[in-house]
Amino acid sequence: MSAPVAEVEGLTKSFGGVPAVDHLSFALHGGEIAGFLGPNGAGKSTTLRLLLGLAAPTSGTARVFGRRYADLDEPTRSVGAVLEFADFHPNRTGRNHVRVLALSSGIDEHRVAEVLELVDLSAVADRKVGGYSLGMRQRLGLATALLGDPKLLILDEPINGLDPAGVHWLRAFLRRFADGGGAVLVSSHVLAEVEQSVDRVLIINQGRLLADQSMTEIARDGGSLEQTYLAITQAVAL
Ligand SMILES: Nc1ncnc2c1ncn2[C@@H]1O[C@H](COP(=O)(O)OP(=O)(O)OP(=O)(O)O)[C@@H](O)[C@H]1O
Ligand SMILES: [Mg+2]
Repeated sequence: MSAPVAEVEGLTKSFGGVPAVDHLSFALHGGEIAGFLGPNGAGKSTTLRLLLGLAAPTSGTARVFGRRYADLDEPTRSVGAVLEFADFHPNRTGRNHVRVLALSSGIDEHRVAEVLELVDLSAVADRKVGGYSLGMRQRLGLATALLGDPKLLILDEPINGLDPAGVHWLRAFLRRFADGGGAVLVSSHVLAEVEQSVDRVLIINQGRLLADQSMTEIARDGGSLEQTYLAITQAVAL
């Protein structure tokens, strides 16, 4: 099999001595869309932040394309990310946000209009972000993630706030992206949507991996993803 696009090994992150991510190991390969699931506080966002070098592991490793994120030569061209609480300057327009990032990453300016069009934000791109709706902000986050035409997308609850057309678009987009060899790690609580859009699920709780199963395996067991998820997470809670 090809080298993993993202890989965590024995990854542990503690806050004040309490583990948020606890000896987590998994690998993600090109062409795969993996859903990253787990209850509130399970450690999903922390894991994604560790992969993106936004926090340092207490122990273990988090690598993308075989290296720590900080050691990538051209991170924007390798990894695109949308995290929770994306922080956009409210007085800047959407277009300027994307342009600033393009400039700082050495990406040609023609790509700015292209990604804004891709996420269907062209019509409001010259409005200030302070006046954007939640879904518009999500779309703007996606536009910035796609700027460098990356091969790995790390998305933290990207469908929050998206309208049905947006959810439909994202599902189709991620599938095309993976068909073209890209890898996606996407956290979500919307299991009905996850069921339709991913190849594989990683379920964690209290920072630990509880399941790593393909959707084919889950379907073979006869249950819905929701039934599987509840059985796995509640078995631990009880
Ligand atoms: N900077 C921090 N300082 C202290 N504790 C933190 C910090 N970041 C996360 N935590 C704790 O780590 C645990 C995991 O949080 P995390 O945000 O990774 O969960 P999550 O799976 O993303 O949850 P949700 O589904 O609610 O987004 C929680 O107990 C949280 O309180
Ligand atoms: Mg989270």
